[in-house]
Amino acid sequence: MICSAIVDDWHAIASRKELQENKLIGRELLGERIVLWSDGSQIHAMADRCPHRGTRLSLGHVNKDQLICPYHSWQFNNEGGCSFQPAQPDIKPSAGTSIPKYPLVERYGLIWICLGEPPESPPKFKGLDDDYHLVITGPYDVATSAPRVVENFLDVAHLPFVHRGMLGDEEHAEIKDYDVSSKAEGVEVRNFRIWQPNASSIHTEGQEITYSYDILRPYSIMLTKTPARAEEKPTDMIFLTVAPMQELNVRAWIIMATTYGSEETEQAVHDFQDKIFMQDKDILESQIPQKLPLRSNAEKHQRADKASLEYRRWLTQLGVNYGTI
Ligand code: FES
Ligand SMILES: [Fe+2]
Repeated sequence: MICSAIVDDWHAIASRKELQENKLIGRELLGERIVLWSDGSQIHAMADRCPHRGTRLSLGHVNKDQLICPYHSWQFNNEGGCSFQPAQPDIKPSAGTSIPKYPLVERYGLIWICLGEPPESPPKFKGLDDDYHLVITGPYDVATSAPRVVENFLDVAHLPFVHRGMLGDEEHAEIKDYDVSSKAEGVEVRNFRIWQPNASSIHTEGQEITYSYDILRPYSIMLTKTPARAEEKPTDMIFLTVAPMQELNVRAWIIMATTYGSEETEQAVHDFQDKIFMQDKDILESQIPQKLPLRSNAEKHQRADKASLEYRRWLTQLGVNYGTI
């Protein structure tokens, strides 16, 4: 059984932009197939499995508020109840003939769903206000576990090597001590200092950047890059959320919130992030075991891994058993 920390959480299943009116989208989350669509005013998420013969409903279509199965055209209303079976038009479908419907919420341009008991809201993007321009990059599919992807995002010591010349420089590879604290709600990492030759799509000169991380949920984390002048607002905040299709096949979404962004620079933000993520993906897909080992002596560590070790301890406390070993 998948633990409650994961089942009873919100997971990003699609971006709002992907949903066109009455066009069905088939997705997978935690091994469950999901069908999603927008009827123009409301968005719906239901199990993508016809109760008749298990067919994928996302291969069907929507007609006047009815979801229609591609196989024998059973029709389902917006509550998931079966309303009509064409091969027996004289019989009213039984009340139990229905499709499970999932709670859904739209936040930061993403559609989040929960397969269990949902918490009040999706993870909160701290510090976000109207000064920021949001760009959703990805989704990036990775053949590994969600915690490996989150831990990689938190791992600053790889920047000079995997993102050489962009997010780090081999001449500045040393990671000085930084602060880590954790509460039941999450882990905070502060004062991670790193020299970056090319910190974002607009930063072309090298500078020392201070990173702060907030691990918000087992599979959601945000990074705030603080510029040298403390009175200025952070120029970049980056939010990563990882939605597992299956335990070892996950989809990562990255929301870039920048003070310098605009419609014109959106493509540059995408190009920059795509390049960075592809560098990470090769490393991530090479790591074994794919599940994140929670036992502290399962892997060797270095001083800079303090944040990763705290993340592992926190996952252990929450009882996260999906994507971990
Ligand atoms: S399988 Fe869906 S109507 Fe028969
Ligand atoms: Fe990376």
